[in-house]
Amino acid sequence: MKKILVATDKPFAPVAVNQIKDIVEKAGFEFSLLEKYTEKSQLINAVNAANAVIIRSDIIDNEVITSSGNLEIVVRAGAGYDNVDLAAATAKKVVVMNTPGQNSNAVAELVFGMMVYHARKFYNGTAGTELREKTLGIHAYGNVGKFVATIAKGFGMKVYAFDPFVSKELIEKDGVTAVDTVEELYSKSQYISLHIPANAETKQSINHKLLSLMPKGAVLVNTARKEVIHEADMIKVMEQRGDFAYLSDIAPDNKADFGKFEGRYFFTPKKMGAQTGEANVNAGVAAANQIVAFFKNGDTTFQVNK
Ligand code: 3PG
Repeated sequence: MKKILVATDKPFAPVAVNQIKDIVEKAGFEFSLLEKYTEKSQLINAVNAANAVIIRSDIIDNEVITSSGNLEIVVRAGAGYDNVDLAAATAKKVVVMNTPGQNSNAVAELVFGMMVYHARKFYNGTAGTELREKTLGIHAYGNVGKFVATIAKGFGMKVYAFDPFVSKELIEKDGVTAVDTVEELYSKSQYISLHIPANAETKQSINHKLLSLMPKGAVLVNTARKEVIHEADMIKVMEQRGDFAYLSDIAPDNKADFGKFEGRYFFTPKKMGAQTGEANVNAGVAAANQIVAFFKNGDTTFQVNK
């Protein structure tokens, strides 16, 4: 009998775990659960006993993959799979999938949660500002970017987007102004919401040159990955510009260095973008269904290491 493991350092909501278990058991497979593990060895041991594993931001590196005996498939219940060593998986013929779009609305809502929290001075009782009629630049127009655009229009913001992989026509169909270059996006937008993946091209790409282009009262909102920010450059810009703010769902490596920018930064204590019951159910159920379809019909629709 195939063994399907859910291995999550940051657990899904119980309602999602129950639905995943149900799908796995109804398909005739065995379900197991490893949550809030503290040692990598716990993950290695659990994965070693499984044929399939559902993860979130859990690190599936070369060691986890190569020490596994029967592992056939890893599904990242979420969008970004930079936490999985794809080369190691491919070498061991382990299929890796993600569940694109399933947690996107949750991430998009948090973008606005952080923007309002900052604009209203962290609710400290003094007068803040509104989002209405401010400019917002969406950097990468994928699943999350689209939800961000919809919500921004509800707030009455003027919305721009840049994405070299999405046609201008598709972006403009949503009532969003597509710009030609990333520099144009940053020059036009008081708020920037980042939705690029972390890969060799994008790591540290949000640098001094780009950040300096942002207009007065600039706010960079990062619900993507900390690795895409050039942290030293971000600190330099914030030192040079007292009007620049950085809001992130992923604390930077040197969080303490931001202490001197009081009122101009906010970091969630734990990555919270996808942490809603709805997103957990959507992504977890999709992951479980994808594993069942893979074992029963060889379905590899969402494979990312083809
Ligand atoms: C994703 O890539 O889907 C998000 O960053 C969510 O990550 P999480 O599942 O670890 O919250």
